[in-house]
Amino acid sequence: MNRIYYTKPSITQLEVQYATDAATNGWGEKCYDYINKFEALFAQHLGTKYAIATSSCTGAIHLGLVALGIKPDDEIIIADTNWIATVAPITYLFAKPVFVDILPDTWCIDPDSIRKAITPKTKAIYVTHLYGNLCEMDEILDIAQKHGLSVIEDAAEGIGSVYKGKKAGSIGDFGTFSFHGTKTITTGEGGMFVTNRKDLYDTIQILNSHGRNPTNPKQFWCEMIGYKYKMSNMQAAIGCAQMERIEELILRKREIFSQYQEGFQGIQGISMNPEKKGTKNGYWMPTIVCDKSLCFDREKLLKKFKENNIDGRSFFYPLSMMPMFEEKRENAISYDIYGRAVNLPSYHDITQENIITVVDVVKKALKGSL
Ligand SMILES: Cc1ncc(COP(=O)(O)O)c(C=O)c1O
Repeated sequence: MNRIYYTKPSITQLEVQYATDAATNGWGEKCYDYINKFEALFAQHLGTKYAIATSSCTGAIHLGLVALGIKPDDEIIIADTNWIATVAPITYLFAKPVFVDILPDTWCIDPDSIRKAITPKTKAIYVTHLYGNLCEMDEILDIAQKHGLSVIEDAAEGIGSVYKGKKAGSIGDFGTFSFHGTKTITTGEGGMFVTNRKDLYDTIQILNSHGRNPTNPKQFWCEMIGYKYKMSNMQAAIGCAQMERIEELILRKREIFSQYQEGFQGIQGISMNPEKKGTKNGYWMPTIVCDKSLCFDREKLLKKFKENNIDGRSFFYPLSMMPMFEEKRENAISYDIYGRAVNLPSYHDITQENIITVVDVVKKALKGSL
């Protein structure tokens, strides 16, 4: 039986051709050509003024926080349900992540919890568009404006998601993306920092070059201690090919989601990624959350998936549950939902037959409670 992967990149002859060209010719004065092109294509797609390619989304987040001027003991409000990469760079700067609860329908940060968590030390609200689902951006921007806070968007999972005409990642002070091999578009590993703020763009150009200012002609002169989270030209070549195919890749994610939706139609008690009025979901990761009435056992389902050669994926644990952080059980939805939820396979080449197999395994696992 063929394995049904949870994600796998869609690589065509175009990616191979561009990567081969970069490996063959992309040296010397051409060593930044694909990087420059990838950044321009990405900024154009997103509708932001600036885009800077990085070696990972984690690196892009780290650079962004430094550029924003985040200092030790500053507080950043962030959803408890998150991937560790979103929060780790906050701790690199000895700032404090303040974990708050999520909404039951979008699984993204709850604006009311944000309001309650604001203190004089709060510097930013940091939102993650989880699994393609969109955060309540109007409300969040309003809170931020009232309290003079920055808004950071982790849109690593938000390619193809659009909030009231604006693409995820383009709405806050800055946004970040991941091109890890599991994402909607990939460069193997890689990330992108995007912003409309020239001050952040200029600072990151310096920070990401070990403190060298590109406007200073003095060679090897550093203005500050910086970082080096750069993407290679060969990765960017793959990225350029993916950008030529981005609409097709997003469309395929949406088709896969609707096939799952069809498969689960009529089953009471299963909710999937929402698409609220005025938004478009890029559906990076089709996810099911089972109602408490269904006696759903996540571990049992993941085991059944394994027996059927299907890759299942656990919904994120609340980060405050992990040993590095202080437990925060008052984030009741974050602590409740993960045990009732799994992410389903959604790589671009998955077949309808594969999707039917996955749906059947879920239905069988739920048998008795349906
Ligand atoms: C929401 C979120 N943030 C950040 C990251 C980190 O991305 P990267 O692995 O490119 O650093 C990921 C990737 O897994 C992610 O899903």
